[in-house]
Amino acid sequence: MKAKLLILLALVLGPFMLRAQTEVNIDLTNTAADPTISKYIYSHFAEHLGHCIYGGFYVGDTSKIPNTAGVRNDIIAALRKMKIPALRWPGGCFADTYHWKDGIGPKDKRPAIVNKWWGGVTEDNSFGTNEFLNMCELLGADPYLSGNVGSGTVQELADWVQYTTSDNKNPMSDLRKANGRDKPWNIGFWGIGNEAWGCGGNMTAEYYSNEFRKYSTFMGSGPKMFRVASGASSDDYNWTETLMKNIPHSLIEGIALHHYAVIDWNRKSSATNFTEDQYFESMQRALLMDTLVTKHSAIMDKYDPKKKIALVVDEWGGWYDVEQGTNPGFLFQQNSMRDAMIAGATLNIFNNHCDRVRMANLAQCVNVLQAVILTNGPKLILTPTYHVMEMYNVHQDATMLPVKFDTEYYEHNGHKLPAISVSASKDKDGIVHVSIVNIDPEKTHKLSLHFNGGSFKTVGGRILTSAKVQDYNSFQNPDKIKPEQFDGARLSGGDVSLMLPHTSVVVLALK
Ligand code: AHR
Repeated sequence: MKAKLLILLALVLGPFMLRAQTEVNIDLTNTAADPTISKYIYSHFAEHLGHCIYGGFYVGDTSKIPNTAGVRNDIIAALRKMKIPALRWPGGCFADTYHWKDGIGPKDKRPAIVNKWWGGVTEDNSFGTNEFLNMCELLGADPYLSGNVGSGTVQELADWVQYTTSDNKNPMSDLRKANGRDKPWNIGFWGIGNEAWGCGGNMTAEYYSNEFRKYSTFMGSGPKMFRVASGASSDDYNWTETLMKNIPHSLIEGIALHHYAVIDWNRKSSATNFTEDQYFESMQRALLMDTLVTKHSAIMDKYDPKKKIALVVDEWGGWYDVEQGTNPGFLFQQNSMRDAMIAGATLNIFNNHCDRVRMANLAQCVNVLQAVILTNGPKLILTPTYHVMEMYNVHQDATMLPVKFDTEYYEHNGHKLPAISVSASKDKDGIVHVSIVNIDPEKTHKLSLHFNGGSFKTVGGRILTSAKVQDYNSFQNPDKIKPEQFDGARLSGGDVSLMLPHTSVVVLALK
């Protein structure tokens, strides 16, 4: 009788007991042709929008805020520590209104312009091409210039390429030299228009493909030239298909994708004062990235089976209501543990798809949308998203290790999402890093990691966590959320087990 009861209990509870922990299998023997997680997956985006450039990165060289040629020293130090690999500029929607020749030469001769997309403010053009490219050198980041297709000309973009990259004698390199820069800058990444289906000109995919062919032809090619086509919005698969079909592959190195974790464009949420329903919906939108990348990649595979053309997710992140009392056109939002969950899970998706996703740019770097840095006069805070980016920089240019697991779920109101997300890599010194996110706002989850093809002697790590998903760093309490040492992982018989607290990001280092 007792035995029967036990069997019955095992049958009823068995499936739940099996789900009591997430079993993660990590393959240390990746033999893919190019399994590298490109460092450019960790790139950023800086638009002339609100206080991203003016009052953010750039305060001018007469400012009392310590700066180098007008760029804040505290921002330079923070982004270097985070290892920012590349920075996209000057937009966004702004890029298709920007005429680069307005932003070169003596500052008092530069014309003022009105930023028609973002707040209608007047900008004096004191931050232009030379200032941006010199700033990238200070940051140790590669520039990614976004060319104007919407309201510019082919000649204008071809001239920009000459001005910035040519060492031969020609009118554009002479102009650069006259403006005080002798040698060209080191530029590879060029965007040809932005959101051509919308703010970049409301074009059809067919029409834009032809425009792209023309611009790309006259920009020229070369070993460094990496030309990125304006790509699809979220699940517009037809856009990717049309571009892949119509653009000769000798003219293109990357195709973009934009996807924001926005609940609903007409019904966003506060950045910090949100409900669990809103948290769940934000995470649903963020995790959709996996499906989007998978499906866009499958289309690209049809036309480019050798994966020569990269998928460049050059705008991604959480988008919420602006902070109360701020200009709605400036897109200034706080950054909470929800953003850390979005960043950790999204970067894991990119790492796991690194065969096709070879660049991504978080929108945006300073004071706009899901920023890594917020400033207020001389004050600066690092957001939870900054800390995730800094913790994950160990994956930059490391070898991706495939992971397989059946996750436990985060359940809410009868709906469920994968609670756990994982990616792993091996760096040049042989250290294996595993980044794990638990998006569940309440439950701790247990994980067991099994390694195929190797074992380890030590395990250490860092954790970013907080009591509530709504928690954030403020100017009054800037270090409320910061990475701490994580001692909760145990090695036993080659496997690693750990309890992953709710709302947490952990990066383990195994030697
Ligand atoms: O990042 C803000 C805006 O979002 C960009 O300018 C545009 O490309 C996108 O729609």
